[in-house]
Parts: sequence; structure tokens; C-alpha cells
Amino acid sequence: MRDLSDELLNWYDVHARDMLWRVAPADKKAGIQPDAYAVWMSEIMLQQTTVAAVTAYFQRFIARWPTVRDLAAAEDADVMGEWAGLGYYARARNLLKCARTVVADHGGQFPADHAALLKLPGIGPYTAAAISSIAFDLPHTVVDGNVERVMARMFDEHMPLPASKPVLTAHADTLTPNARPGDYAQAVMDLGATICTPKNPACGICPWRDPCQARINGTAAELPRKLAKKAKPVRHGTVYLAQRSDGAWLLETRPDKGLLGGMLGWPSSDWVDVSAPRPQNAPFEADWHKSGGEVRHTFTHFHLILDVMTAQVSDADPRTGSFLARDQFRPSDLPTVMRKAFDLVNK
Ligand code: ADE
Repeated sequence: MRDLSDELLNWYDVHARDMLWRVAPADKKAGIQPDAYAVWMSEIMLQQTTVAAVTAYFQRFIARWPTVRDLAAAEDADVMGEWAGLGYYARARNLLKCARTVVADHGGQFPADHAALLKLPGIGPYTAAAISSIAFDLPHTVVDGNVERVMARMFDEHMPLPASKPVLTAHADTLTPNARPGDYAQAVMDLGATICTPKNPACGICPWRDPCQARINGTAAELPRKLAKKAKPVRHGTVYLAQRSDGAWLLETRPDKGLLGGMLGWPSSDWVDVSAPRPQNAPFEADWHKSGGEVRHTFTHFHLILDVMTAQVSDADPRTGSFLARDQFRPSDLPTVMRKAFDLVNK
């Protein structure tokens, strides 16, 4: 039998995408080892996020905190601020926890061991397999959405996701080679991202064209099947942007637990289903004005519509947060939904 992994690796040797955090296949063959810290950072950032969106963030993080020790020593607020806009903020909180654990328990070196990696904060099966294979060339199988699609087509698997996940993972496992598992893991992901795409897969130029069962059966375009997603509910609420006469803005660091945990934000009411009255919960009594327009933002599990109230005050004793001068925060430190509210009142 032809070796499927060799055929994919030959393709990768020519077509590997350039990525800041990646050691190109030729450099890898020349003996250059990937930096596990960079591999870890990039894989955490790439979860739920595109390569295009991640690149600038990765660059800034690595420039500001070049090693895991630098990151472990960082202020929480600085790390959360740099992460702002990337979303899924639990990843940033876990990033810091993980860096500190690697320094405290592993001498500042990521362990070259799948089980030990899995024990670290924020590292689940996907990331443990990605670091094991890409950073340490251990034969672990990496399965993300791209890999699921490639496997569903290679094996013409019609069971819908998410039920088919274990089946697709088992298929993927059968193909992972012992030689060059790191390059191979990245090759399958690149294949899914550039050739075996969700729409209009480029089967004509695919290195796995001949063995692909879905191509043979003409079913590639309809795979992978997915159970229909539930419609997202809509919630609403009110945020409060108060500016003091010296120019300072009232901001709070949100509690670690919960949505946008640990991020800077405007004081806000709870966010409730639109069938309930819109809650109001101003941080202090003032002459609040409703700004024209509203903020709309979509989270993983719901759509949100926010009224934005503003007030100009000479002084105030808020029940939450504190006034920050304009040079004490950057609008880019705010998560996107909070940034939208700032932009609305600073048009
Ligand atoms: N998506 C997530 N991680 C990746 C990687 N290392 N290579 C290609 N695509 C990816």
C-alpha cells in the first residue's frame, strides 16, 4: 500500500504555509527545533480564531513576553489588555495560569510529555496533541475542524458531527505516522485549510485525491454532515459610560468567573432575555442620557443588544469600578463589545 502520510508530507514540503510560529519543513530537516512556548501560544490563540486574526496578536505577545518566564511575571491586566479583541477570554486567563505553572512546576520548560501537558491549565486534548507533535515530534494525533473535514471525506463518513467526533479521531489516528509527526499534523491542517476546504474543495490538486473515498463516491461537497445548530437567543442590557470633568472614564475589571472574566469594561446591568424588561443598574445617580444607536454583539451562545447610557460628572462615588485617566487605559484594552460602546459615544 502507498504510504498516505508520505504523500501528504511530500506535498507539505512544497506547500507548507508560512506562519510566524512555524519552523518550515526544510529548516526542520536542517535541525531547527520549534520553540514549545511559541507553539503553545499560537495553538491557544488559534482555537476558535483564524490564522489571519491571530498573527498580529502573536507578534505582539512574543515581542512583549519573549519567554514563558517573561509571561509568567507579567501583570494580569497587561496580558488581558493585549488579548482584548481576540475573544474567548478564559483562554487568556488560562494562558497566564499555565505560564506560571510551567515556571513553578517545570523549571520554565514545557514538558515533552502528553500526559503532563494535559494537566496544565487551559491545555485540553487538542492542544496537548498539538504541542506534543509540533514542538516535540511525538506521534500524537491532532484533530481540529480542518482535520475532521479531511477525515470525513477520506473515509466517506456520513455520521453527523458532533456524534462522529470519536469516529473521525479514530480514523485520523490510523494515519498518524511515527516519522515527522509534527510536520504531518500541520500538513493535515494545512490541507484542510487550503485544499480540502468546506466549499468547493480543490480535489483536482489534492495529494490524497486517489485514496479519498468521498471523491470516489462524489460526496466530498456534502461532508462533513453536521447536526443543525440551535438558533441563538437574544439578550439585552444597559452599559454605563461615565466621564468625569477631568476626562477620566469609569471602568471596572470584571470578575474572573463568567463572560469577559478578568477583562476591563464599562459598568453594566445584567444581560437578560429580550422577553424580559431591559435591566438598568447605573453605577451612581446622575443625569444619564441614552446615546443614539445601540451596541450589537454576538457571543458563542447568544446575541446581545446594549443600550449605552452616558453621563458627565464632576465627581462621583461609584458602587463599582474606578475612574481611569485616558492615559491609564487604551481603548484596545477593551473586549470588542465594550470597545463598540466606547466607539459609539466617541464617534
Ligand atoms: N490551525 C491550528 N494550528 C495550526 C497549525 N499548527 N498549522 C496549521 N493550521 C493550524
